Amino acid sequence: MKIAKRISRLGTETAFEVLAEVNDLRSKGKDIIALSIGEPACATAEYIKDAAKKALNKNLTHYNPSAGIPEFRKVIAEYVASTRGIPVEPDEVVVVPGGKPVIFYSILACIEEGDEVIYPLPGYPIYESMINFAGGTPVPLRLREDRKFSFDIRDLRSKISDRTRMVIVNSPHNPTGGIIPKHDLHEIAELALKHDFWVLSDEIYSRIIYEGKAESISQFPGMKERTIILDGHSKTYAMTGWRVGYGVMPKQLAQHVARLVTNSVSCTATFTQYAAMEAVLGSQESVAEMVEVFKKNRDLIVAGLNGIDGFFCHTPAGAFYAYPNVTRACRRLGFKNSKDLQKFLLYKAGVAVLGQQCFGTRTKDEDQEYIRLSYVSSQQDITGALRRIESTLADTRLVEEFLDERHVKETEFK
Ligand SMILES: Cc1ncc(COP(=O)(O)O)c(C=O)c1O
Repeated sequence: MKIAKRISRLGTETAFEVLAEVNDLRSKGKDIIALSIGEPACATAEYIKDAAKKALNKNLTHYNPSAGIPEFRKVIAEYVASTRGIPVEPDEVVVVPGGKPVIFYSILACIEEGDEVIYPLPGYPIYESMINFAGGTPVPLRLREDRKFSFDIRDLRSKISDRTRMVIVNSPHNPTGGIIPKHDLHEIAELALKHDFWVLSDEIYSRIIYEGKAESISQFPGMKERTIILDGHSKTYAMTGWRVGYGVMPKQLAQHVARLVTNSVSCTATFTQYAAMEAVLGSQESVAEMVEVFKKNRDLIVAGLNGIDGFFCHTPAGAFYAYPNVTRACRRLGFKNSKDLQKFLLYKAGVAVLGQQCFGTRTKDEDQEYIRLSYVSSQQDITGALRRIESTLADTRLVEEFLDERHVKETEFK
């Protein structure tokens, strides 16, 4: 049977493939420490689960409006207004199942065939996938390690053309943990006004920040009218599997996005929205505790990574990922790239990490190698993983074995 051509333009999130590999190895009895997962390891707080149970007991299990339950939209509007310092009306909020659908729907609603969209590289892979799927042209903007993984505003200026329809920013950032300084956001805002483009501001890690406060580009004059804020409960409240997120956008766009919701999933689950509302209204202690734990984990993993021969890791300012430069280690060991290192660590060290190929298509000028490690696990797992990484990389017998096996596989495929 024939499959529509547009499907060939749809990418994926390879982190899920690594997760399947990890599960397969574990089912065969292998002991794997997974630092590949992009979600808090802790459980959702009891007060949130209680609110969900209460909603279920009240039979709040029916359809609700596509844009979300009115009380929840109001709570989100107030929350976003107070955290970003901007006025927000409930009808500017669209509740969706997770943060990801905001990318899907807003790109479908705003991008036409041939429109250019500038997005961060490395970056969350769904941006590139969705730009291609919508028929847009992805224009990668390199994040600079020497700028702690922010970008050079001159690079951004050079990428803007009369076809630029949207710029995607993500701060704090996946996979690097970098944040975009306020003055850079201000400069992007000025460019957005001058060149008349949308900004999709992915703020899903806005509460997971270790120094200061996350800044939103929506705060600058004239930006609220052209910004789509993406946020949600997955990371902040350890609720990845609940699927609750939201977009904040101009009312007219919100109506179109709500129609996309009607056409796809009808609405976000009703009882989860009641629980999510309680998450925002209740005590925020569990969030503060989680961030405190992540901060300790961050310091542990960064110190450990910097002690490994051929690795160099900046201290991330937000999110829960370390993104060390592993170029020297790859070169020394004869690995072609970070994907080789990812495979080596999974199969020889029993540690799951993600190579940089999981975060967007490489550009020709890219000559550095990176891997991403999530530091959401216990300190014991992090210490164990660091020990395994260090000892296997120093084991020349294991490295040779891996390179031989890789060589055999490559020759088989030829
Ligand atoms: C940068 C970024 N944006 C959006 C999402 C999607 O979040 P959700 O799981 O709520 O769909 C993720 C999840 O990993 C992410 O890292």
